[in-house]
Parts: sequence; structure tokens; C-alpha cells
Amino acid sequence: MDIPFAPTTAYRIADLAARHDEAVRIAEKRAIDRQHAKGKLTARERIELLVDEGSFVELDQFARHRCTEFGMEGNRPYGDGVVTGHATVDGRQVCLFSQDFSVFGGSMGEVFGEKVLKVMDLALSLGCPVIGINDSGGARIQEGVVSLAYYAELGRRNAHASGVIPQISMIMGPCAGGAVYSPAITDFTVMVDDTSHMFVTGPDVVHAVTGERVTAQQLGGAAVNSEISGNAHHRAADERDAIDWVQTLLGYLPLNNLDAPPEYDDDTVHEITPSDLELDRLVPDSLNQAYDMAEVIRRIVDDGEFTEIHSAFAPNMICAFGRVEGRSVGIVANQPRYQAGVIDIDASEKAARFVRFCDAFGLPILTLADVPGYLPGTDQERQGVIRRGAKLIYAYSEATVPKVTVVTRKAYGGGYAVMGSKHLGADVNIAWPTAEIAVMGAEGAVGVLHRHELARLSTEEREVARQRLTEEYRKHHASPYLAAERGYVDMVIPPSQTRLQVARALRTLRTKRQTLPAKKHGNIPL
Ligand code: HXC
Repeated sequence: MDIPFAPTTAYRIADLAARHDEAVRIAEKRAIDRQHAKGKLTARERIELLVDEGSFVELDQFARHRCTEFGMEGNRPYGDGVVTGHATVDGRQVCLFSQDFSVFGGSMGEVFGEKVLKVMDLALSLGCPVIGINDSGGARIQEGVVSLAYYAELGRRNAHASGVIPQISMIMGPCAGGAVYSPAITDFTVMVDDTSHMFVTGPDVVHAVTGERVTAQQLGGAAVNSEISGNAHHRAADERDAIDWVQTLLGYLPLNNLDAPPEYDDDTVHEITPSDLELDRLVPDSLNQAYDMAEVIRRIVDDGEFTEIHSAFAPNMICAFGRVEGRSVGIVANQPRYQAGVIDIDASEKAARFVRFCDAFGLPILTLADVPGYLPGTDQERQGVIRRGAKLIYAYSEATVPKVTVVTRKAYGGGYAVMGSKHLGADVNIAWPTAEIAVMGAEGAVGVLHRHELARLSTEEREVARQRLTEEYRKHHASPYLAAERGYVDMVIPPSQTRLQVARALRTLRTKRQTLPAKKHGNIPL
């Protein structure tokens, strides 16, 4: 509503109030109607739920686009489709931008881009996490190449901020084009069931270009992106769940790469507890029987609490944040319950990126190994298991943060080497007496070593001999003691001592300093 001009202070204050009303209340009313009808919250509602009450400071509320193409000059809403600013979450500083799909489909034009870049630059100069709440059709078509330029600029900011401040993306609507490439560079991406999508091009474009008919859910829904493509690190049931996950995640992270992670009081018990003793009964006698590695993690971390990253993607590898004696730790663990904990391409890439995040932000890495090795087969070989499996070796090797490894059961072949072995630079290597550290499992080893000898026997004799040789191999070679003799494991302990020994190791390693040769950057196989 325009107020008649008067050259007075009262007019100027009333005019400001009217502009503010238009930018926030009136725009929000329109946004509520459009977003709620689609089962989504508005850009401002999302911010309100995410940050501490009353802590949000909005920037550039009156910014408006300057585009005159396609009749745009007659439609210049305040804010230009994105709410930006800074706030606190649990008392800790964050910067954020929240895209407003009710304005030009949350698409990025010049002014929208300027606002997002400005708040990212602010996050970098303050040294605090940046959270992008995405609900956008990508590059604003009306603004043409300028929109593309800003997406490229945003990608450059994401890359420069990578490893300096944590970057978190929330996908809260149908995100296409540039609206997904930027999140892909960030550290963590969360999607919401049903209402959020991520794709380079939407179903209509897919049909026009390829003739393929596919729904938005099939193309880029939360299930597809969290389970199959791995683009999303968490699949939330609804927007509140997504916000809750991000708040929890922030609680484990430092504000920047020079800051220490948040520290909580250490109220852990410093002697063996009944829960610790349960670990002595966890590993089944039969190698073919699985157990749940999450049970081991639960018995090591404070209050049995940990937050999984990428829980639905490559579940044969667990990546999680937890705390030990009140301090954050990144956990990488094989999960024997899925594909016997084998390392395939997805597991390697999932763990490698997680290890690199932990290393960049000074978070110690606890590795729990029970791994039969890398997954063999044409499928994996053709998809590049050599190149993509090598990422995990690279990531562990360049990580200079404290690294503690516990081998619980199998650690065969490449699996032994890559899962935080001493040779990749782990600081403290622990094995349970149930550990089998060897080039391969007993059956496989006997098959190779005694092939000719076994072939000469009758079927019956062969089975008896095979069993005897397998037993012998397991007794003498598939144990932690050959590795312990060489100092490849520092100690062999009963499982029940794990929590206390891991805590002690991490305590001892707090002052660890390690620098690698100076270089511009390495060349991790991509
Ligand atoms: C301008 C856009 C827009 C865009 C959506 N809108 N995307 N306006 N530029 N990119 C507008 C629509 O015109 C519509 O306006 C309103 O937003 C809501 O859009 P709908 O299509 O009604 O919503 P929905 O059915 O939910 O579909 C959402 C969608 C679809 C899947 C995102 O809008 C879509 O496919 N948009 C185009 C996506 C795209 O190809 N973007 C460019 C990518 S190229 P009205 O006024 O009718 O409400 C790119 C390059 C980046 O991003 C480079 C990176 C380096």
C-alpha cells in the first residue's frame, strides 16, 4: 500500500513499515497459500523452525530484480525469491539462505544470486556453517545467461568454502538444474519424502529429449536419491524431520576448519559396564553368521547415540557421527548384516567422502573393521571398482586427524589394508581375539594353496582333507596374532574393553599433529 509522500520523519517511518509489511506479511500470506497447498512450508517458516527463536537477522529484504525482459518490470517482489541472513542454532552461529518457490518458482536470477553469494561470503568471513534451503526451478529463464553466471559463481563459492566451513543443503521442493549442482558440492544433503525432488532436468524435459516417460518420484524422489544415486545423505519423513536432522548434525560439527567441535561434559563410566560385557558375546562362533555392527557402535559412543550419514545408501558401510567422552568422532564401519560388509563402489565412495570431511574439519576417525574384501565381479569391474575403490585408500592415507581402528572379525585382503590399517597411517590399531587378519578367508586360501593336492583325492577324502586344512589355516593364519607379532595391531583386547580403550586412545591422540608434504592439491581418483 502506497502512503502519500510527505517530507517528514513520520512519513519515512510509516513508509518503511509499509515496505516491510509488503516484503514479509503480504508476501508470506501469498507464500503460505501456494506452499501449504503443496504440503510444503514457506521459506520463512523453515528458517523459523531451524534457528533459535528470535535469532534470525535478515539481509537484503528490499532487494529486487532489475530484469525488464518478458514483462518482468511489472513484477518486482521484494526479496526476489530468496530469504537470506544469519542466526544461531543451539547458540552457535550459522548463515543461511532459504529459497521461496512462490516467487518465480524459487529460480535464481541476478539479484537472487547476489543475495546468496553475499551470505556465503559472509559465512566464509565469519567462519560459520552455511545452510541452503533449496526449493527452486534452477536458473531463472527470464534472466537468461545472467542466471547461469550466478550458478557458476555459486559453484565456485561452494568449492572455495569446501573444507573451510561446513555446507549443508536441504532439498525442500522440486529442485532442478543449478539448484541441484550446488547442493551436490556441499557436504551434506537432506531430502524430504514426497515433496522434494532432485534432478538435472524434470520429467517434461526428459520426455521431450529422450521420449522416456517417468514420474518426478521415479526420476529424483527422496527414495531414489538416498538409496540408489547417493545424492542425498538423509531421507526425512517430512520437513520438520529434515530440520531436526540438520540441527542434530550441526551439534557434531565445528563452525569451521580451525575451530574445535562442540564439547560436552564427559559423564561416561570409566570402568567396564554390563553393556561393555555384552560385546564379549556379540560375535557369533560361525563366520557365516552376521551380527549388527550398530550394536558395537552403540556400546562405544556416549549414551549409545550416533547419527548415520547416508544410512540408506550402501548400507554395507556405516558412516556416522557420535561422541566419545563428550567429543565428536566420525565412525566408519563395515556392516556384516549387509553383503557381509563387503566394500563395493558405493561403499568406497561413501566412506571416502566421509573420511575426507572428518579430516578437513579435525574430527578423529574411528574405524570398525569386519570386511571380506572388495566385491568381485564384472559389474563392479566395469563400473570402475579399481579407480573408485581406490578413493578410500587415498582418503585414509591423506587424513592426518587421529585415527583409531578396531578389527572385530574378518579383515581380509584389500579390506584389511583399506579399513584404517596401520599402513595407511592409523595411530592406534586394536584387534579383538575374534579378528581374522589374512589375505583371504580360510576356505579360499585352502582352495588356492592346496588345489593340486585336493584334486588328487576322492570326493569323500577331499571333503575331510579340506575341512582339516581349513581348520589348520584358521588356527594358525586367520587370527590377530600374526599381525600383532609385527606391530600391525598395537593390542589384542577382549571386546568388552573396547569402549575404554577407544576412549583412552582418542584422549591420548588429542595433541596429535601431522603434516604432509606441501603441494597445491592432490589428485584423488574421481
Ligand atoms: C523461471 C520458473 C522456473 C525457472 C519454475 N518457474 N521454474 N520461472 N525460471 N527456471 C515458475 C513457473 O513458471 C511457475 O510460475 C512457478 O515457477 C511454479 O512452477 P511449476 O512448473 O508450476 O511447478 P511444478 O509443477 O512443481 O514444477 C517444478 C519444476 C518445473 C519441476 C521445477 O517448474 C520445471 O521443470 N522448471 C524448469 C526447470 C529447469 O529446466 N530449469 C533450468 C535449468 S538450467 P507461475 O507463474 O506459473 O506460478 C540450470 C543451469 C544451471 O539451472 C547451471 C549450473 C552450473
